[in-house]
Amino acid sequence: MRHFLIDTDTASDDAVAMLMALREPSVRVEAVTVVAGNCPLNVCVRNALITIEKANTYTPPVYAGRHGPMLRPLVTAEFVHGQDGMGDMDLPEPALKAANGHAVNAIIETARRFPGELEVVTLGPLTNLALALLMEPQLEDWIKRVYVMGGGGLGPGNMSPVAEFNFMVDAEAVHVLLSSKVPKSIVGWDVCQADDAYIHPQDIERLKASSELGRFVVRCNETLIQFNHQLGLEGFDLPDPTTVAAALYPEMITRQFESYTYVDHQSDKGYGQFVVDFQRLTTEKENATIVASLDGQMFKDKLIELLADQ
Ligand code: BDR
Ligand code: CA
Repeated sequence: MRHFLIDTDTASDDAVAMLMALREPSVRVEAVTVVAGNCPLNVCVRNALITIEKANTYTPPVYAGRHGPMLRPLVTAEFVHGQDGMGDMDLPEPALKAANGHAVNAIIETARRFPGELEVVTLGPLTNLALALLMEPQLEDWIKRVYVMGGGGLGPGNMSPVAEFNFMVDAEAVHVLLSSKVPKSIVGWDVCQADDAYIHPQDIERLKASSELGRFVVRCNETLIQFNHQLGLEGFDLPDPTTVAAALYPEMITRQFESYTYVDHQSDKGYGQFVVDFQRLTTEKENATIVASLDGQMFKDKLIELLADQ
């Protein structure tokens, strides 16, 4: 059994990613730690609890973490995910409650329980994980691998011309992780933009017809669907679910490579830009695995399978 910890700024696509992990029988999500990002912290915590209830499998403890980035003011994304982060769905309050204790401590303590075995999936700004790495130096040895949703990878940004949301919210935290020796697989925003991984109108119809959770997945992404529509795009992308899929199903990855990477955390217009040394132009040692593409059809089929009515 693989042991996972999911760190999330739970909104619509985080929820889909969590549903996938919680419904995959070969892994156990040992804890969910929440960070402010898409929405303020309390909204993200509520969404994490709702999502665990929706998954209807088991109930990992949920820990609230940082209410904002390490050094900068919080930037949120309700304009993409809705005021409630879940497509303005008017969801009832969850019965589940958050656990006592801080997410940063929970990351450290969970890794201490599974030294060399814990796989961490980060779906939001890296603030909680960076603080945990700074607090407990041994964490670098205890974590088996971190799967990160963030950065533009091979493509453009979605918050600035060069920066992706999770990396731009807290680039100092990204710098902390990239400077650590924890093995990392980084799934950029470009991966979910690939035509075969993108959720097109026909995929929306398939999801809606597939199951109750399939309809939930479409409904909680409704604000994103409308946002895209105004940009002239139909359908929606699933950045966090493609990241969880890369973690759960390595056989789905069609291209990955090792590279030296860094994040711009010092300039103004470039803040949050993730730089990958594709051409090996520096003499720096590789510090990350870049997941460059997934088998999109396999990803969608697996998503439908995991969401099936039981
Ligand atoms: C990332 O930013 C958030 O809005 C999504 O949840 C995802 O984690 C995509 O850039
Ligand atoms: Ca997210």
